[in-house]
Amino acid sequence: MGKLLEKLSEIKIGFGGAAISGEGGGYGFGSISEQESLYLLQASYDSGIRIFDSAPIYGFGVSERRIGKAFSKIRDKVFIITKSGVTWSENLRVNMSNDPKIATKMLEQSLRDLNSSYIDLYMIHWPDPKVDIRRPMEVLARAKHQGKIKHIGLCNTNQVDLQKAMEVEKVEVIQSQLNLFTQESIEGLSDMLTDHGISFMSWGSLDKGILSGRVTKNRTFERPDARSFAPWWNKAQNLQKIDKVEKLKLFGDEVGHSLLELSIGHNLSNPLVSNVLCGIRNLNQLETILKAMENLPNKEIIDKALEVVSE
Ligand SMILES: NC(=O)c1ccc[n+]([C@@H]2O[C@H](COP(=O)([O-])OP(=O)(O)OC[C@H]3O[C@@H](n4cnc5c(N)ncnc54)[C@H](OP(=O)(O)O)[C@@H]3O)[C@@H](O)[C@H]2O)c1
Repeated sequence: MGKLLEKLSEIKIGFGGAAISGEGGGYGFGSISEQESLYLLQASYDSGIRIFDSAPIYGFGVSERRIGKAFSKIRDKVFIITKSGVTWSENLRVNMSNDPKIATKMLEQSLRDLNSSYIDLYMIHWPDPKVDIRRPMEVLARAKHQGKIKHIGLCNTNQVDLQKAMEVEKVEVIQSQLNLFTQESIEGLSDMLTDHGISFMSWGSLDKGILSGRVTKNRTFERPDARSFAPWWNKAQNLQKIDKVEKLKLFGDEVGHSLLELSIGHNLSNPLVSNVLCGIRNLNQLETILKAMENLPNKEIIDKALEVVSE
């Protein structure tokens, strides 16, 4: 059974669109102008990256609009992903709902923001305990038959929801957090991924800059960087992780691998992982990630790296 993402991406890196949320707020990593964002998207494309991941909550539409603008003239050359379910109110309070009416509305808005008549991969962003996943899946299935979306995926899902979703329509991609600190998401789904030929793409691959060494103990963040205000940015937990990353860096120096090589290499060492999303913020980060891809560690080094961070 052919896996969707493996077929279409030679470079196993996908561009994480939260990196270009900029001043829009929501989920994002700080200011970046439209011009810089377009330049970065073009440079990523020129380097061979074809998968561009976004969501309305990334800058409250800013990330999608920038991706739409960057690729409107070469729409069929890129694979654009966006998602339904994370909404916000007028006062920018973030909400989460898989209500099918919301899914319908968000899909139409994303098509407008992406300036495209179709979305390559449309995903349900988070499970919603209040709504049976089959209800938004029916919306997505209809949209797929109308040609508005080409493929369907689920993010941050579990076995039960995945099973239910597949009763309605084929699910081709799962997107969940995976990095040297967190492996539960893929472990719980591995049999289903294999049995149904579903691609897995990781987010949080660099643990929002902690695993790449960008987040240091004394670093502070300012709005609109979500790391300055988000409830999930747990400072006490981060300090413990940073200690571990310092040890990981020393280990990497011994075996000739950078933190990026260890982090990306860890994800790609799992044969179930088709693609690693990275929140690339600038040209230098693009360059170093592409360079890291040329020197990924072997399995033995990855296993030792896992031991270092779990000590
Ligand atoms: N489906 C979902 O629920 C979900 C959730 C979250 C994210 N995502 C997707 O996954 C993408 C990436 O995941 P993420 O947002 O968790 O971020 P991430 O990729 O784990 O981390 C991004 C951060 O890593 C640092 N970084 C990037 N390239 C680097 C390099 N070459 N060298 C050193 N540091 C580097 C940057 O930190 P600095 O900013 O400090 O420089 C950047 O902001 C997002 O953009 C989004 O598309 C999906």
